[in-house]
Amino acid sequence: MSAFGKSLSIAVAVITLLVWTGAAVVSAQGPWVAPPEAKAVKNPVKGIGNAKKAVETNCVSCHGPGGKGDGPAAAALPPPKPANWTSEAVQKQTDGELFWKMSNGRGAMPPWKHLPDNERWEIVNYIRTLKGK
Ligand code: HEC
Repeated sequence: MSAFGKSLSIAVAVITLLVWTGAAVVSAQGPWVAPPEAKAVKNPVKGIGNAKKAVETNCVSCHGPGGKGDGPAAAALPPPKPANWTSEAVQKQTDGELFWKMSNGRGAMPPWKHLPDNERWEIVNYIRTLKGK
């Protein structure tokens, strides 16, 4: 291959990579919307059970001890940053939406499907106790 041909194919490869990673970043930064059927799911669980402890173990590193999205790992993460659970943006969502997002994750937010359903609902109830704090 000629030197020109070689640098051209490198340039094409670099551009392809930039476009691809750019698209991935943009798609991860768009608004995160749960599907309508998840939104409508009713919370079958009352109370927070051991959710405070589960949150301390699994979530505060990113979401912070008070759920404000300011955990020690948050600073190192690229946007979108861990959500502030006390905010209107989170609190205005239905229990079903929060449950679905927690279960599926996105980007740096891990999926928590391996936690039993009732524990995930208790965590949703716990997030409710932080409203406006
Ligand atoms: C490694 C860091 C990390 C951990 C650990 C983590 N999260 Fe997240 N979380 C994120 C990030 C980053 C986002 C924002 C994701 C986005 O908008 O794409 C997020 C978003 C969320 C949202 C969505 C809020 C919204 O804006 O709609 C909920 C709910 C949530 N997290 C709950 C939890 C729960 C519950 C746990 C623990 C069981 C947890 N997270 C653990 C990083 C983390």
